[in-house]
Amino acid sequence: MFYFGVDYYPEHWPQERWVEDARLMAEANFNVVRLAEFAWSKMEPREDSFDFEWLDHAIEILSSHDIKIILGTPTASPPPWLMAKQEDLFRVDPEGRRLTYGNRREYCPNNPLYHDHTRRIVTAMAEHYRDHASIIGWQIDNEFGDRCYCTICRNAFQGWLRDRYGTLEELNSRWGTLFWSHVYTDWSEIPTPLKTGGSPNPGLALDFYRFASESYVAYQKLQIDLLREICPQHFITHNFMGFNYDQLDYFELARDLDFVAWDIYWRMQWNIDAEVSPSWPALGHDTMRGLKGKNFWVMEQQAGPGGWEMVSVPTKPGELRLWAYQSIAHGADAILFFRWRTALYGTEEYWHGVLDHHGRPGRRYEEIQRMGAELQQIGESIHGAQIKAPVAFLLSYDSRFAFQIQGNNPSFSYPEHFHDLYRVFHARQIPIDILSPTSELSSYPLVIAPALHIVKDEIAKNLETYVRNGGTLLLTLRTGVKDEANAVVDQPLPGLLADLCGVEVEEYVSLPTDLDHEIQFSVSGIPMTPFPAKVWCDVLQPKGATVLARYREDYFAGKPAITVNQVGEGKVVYMGTMGDASLYETLTAWLLDQLQIEASWAAHHELEIGERWQGDRKILFLLNHSDSVQQVSLDGKYRELLSGSVLAEPKLKIPPREVTILKEEGE
Ligand code: GLA
Ligand code: ZN
Repeated sequence: MFYFGVDYYPEHWPQERWVEDARLMAEANFNVVRLAEFAWSKMEPREDSFDFEWLDHAIEILSSHDIKIILGTPTASPPPWLMAKQEDLFRVDPEGRRLTYGNRREYCPNNPLYHDHTRRIVTAMAEHYRDHASIIGWQIDNEFGDRCYCTICRNAFQGWLRDRYGTLEELNSRWGTLFWSHVYTDWSEIPTPLKTGGSPNPGLALDFYRFASESYVAYQKLQIDLLREICPQHFITHNFMGFNYDQLDYFELARDLDFVAWDIYWRMQWNIDAEVSPSWPALGHDTMRGLKGKNFWVMEQQAGPGGWEMVSVPTKPGELRLWAYQSIAHGADAILFFRWRTALYGTEEYWHGVLDHHGRPGRRYEEIQRMGAELQQIGESIHGAQIKAPVAFLLSYDSRFAFQIQGNNPSFSYPEHFHDLYRVFHARQIPIDILSPTSELSSYPLVIAPALHIVKDEIAKNLETYVRNGGTLLLTLRTGVKDEANAVVDQPLPGLLADLCGVEVEEYVSLPTDLDHEIQFSVSGIPMTPFPAKVWCDVLQPKGATVLARYREDYFAGKPAITVNQVGEGKVVYMGTMGDASLYETLTAWLLDQLQIEASWAAHHELEIGERWQGDRKILFLLNHSDSVQQVSLDGKYRELLSGSVLAEPKLKIPPREVTILKEEGE
């Protein structure tokens, strides 16, 4: 079943309206809604006094329209009566300020009283709805969560450190606390890295970030355990925030869930002036698919212009459908739009839903309805279809956290660097998997690990095995600099990976902002014209590797910047500098050529071609993100999935903001 639906807040509307809502939903071809994830105060208006009658009634109406239900546990937004109990229930921010009531996601994930109340509401909901035929699954909480620096968390952090290091001696030595006389003599002396403490010890800060992430994983697990016990037949997921969210180790958060769901907003109030390139949401989708190596759900797909205090620019005709098909092209097996009807009150009054404030269907409704009709027809042939990627990118939350603590260069950004490299493959329409650095890699001809800053033995071994057995690995600047405790390694860089790379970093040069250097290749197949080298220059000394490019300027002119090393059956390319798109495109083209990975399509930033496989048949999603007609030349014989007709010729025109879905024809 391909689920297609909407996030619905019946509690915001008079009951007399609910039947009309359900009717319009059914007419839009919706077959699922998510309910109740912000309805704690309606379900438990006073402590221990539950009211599910209204929700039962809403579910009954929806069920009678053949709409299935996902219930959200409401813990992202606790009621005032609960938060008034104890100041400690509120999270403390990195500045040491305690949050106050008025928004959401304000709780401390380690507060025992909050855990008690969580158990109560989750158990009450689960017991009430365990046998309801329309309920199919649960969303835990909503978009976990920011780091809490409160005393409860600090105490828990100290316990966490004791488990991790065993002795204070070990902790002091791994963190290097002799520096500035920070030697701890009792676990209770260890602080959290509050901003008021200034620039923290990097080991302490990274461990705290890990701990903070694990706190939410554990808090989620508390809810999962209850639901698994009471409602074993239901699925459990959580709505993640894509590649861009950087406070949680999403690989860990995904582990206990049945599948990942996420919330994708293309165009929001806060990026009105920067039009989003399709590669950013694509990276989000691929990351979400990679967390469990499994297709995912979109729990919140944009349904209109966003807006809290500001109102974002509109979603143009065609875009909602286009973006939702992009989600599907990257592996979404269900789409729910956020939200049904635009709220008349509350912080999100201007966050536009499928319906406007007045509740009458308009162009956004019609567009989504059209998509619903299409999916009724073709959803089954898409559902479960796999993505086969020849290229994997390694996403390291440890490294990402470490760069949050020490940025290295003001112009360096781990996510931007990651995206800059990802974008080249995306433009070439090459499917990409995003994996953790300890994942099994043998099936990928090419693996790219941007700025893999923290390298532990397990990662080094994994990469070495991969390369020895024939893989090609691309590593970039600032790789292997840190050990697991976020201390700098005492070997030449790239540390544990230096042997594998066959190079040593003789010297590294952090470039001033706005000063670009140049490099020049000296390898057949790459032009001799110079390419920019920005932000950072690792001056390399080959220890067995072959030089691909050298610096052209400054006191390190003539020294290697990019190298390749043959190891066993495979190779490692080390790129010691950052360039621009032209450098990444050139190097990528060379790599793909070496690997004989042929791109089926010409590179394009506005026409996106997604591939999913149903058995050995390919399904193509041709997504025109531009305002003009785009033309493609197909690589084989295809049938248009919606019309059922076989295409007479390989050339195809895709109108602006339109989508064409094709299925490969058999022999
Ligand atoms: C997030 C939340 C929703 C809503 C939307 C729009 O994705 O999960 O509850 O707030 O953003 O702001
Ligand atoms: Zn806390």
